[in-house]
Amino acid sequence: MYVCLCKGVTDNQIKDAIAGGACSMRDLRNDLDVGTQCGKCARDCKSLLSETLTSQ
Ligand code: FES
Repeated sequence: MYVCLCKGVTDNQIKDAIAGGACSMRDLRNDLDVGTQCGKCARDCKSLLSETLTSQ
């Protein structure tokens, strides 16, 4: 499922990035460019980030 439509980034790509060591929105921005265009996905990215980090 796409989380960031502007950059075409899926939830699985975000989970992979977190599994690979990303632990903040800054890391996700650097790794995948999420939230760098319209910014609408930032909230969803943040919740996915905290959900994934707490379930690791
Ligand atoms: Fe992610 Fe627009 S949906 S920057």
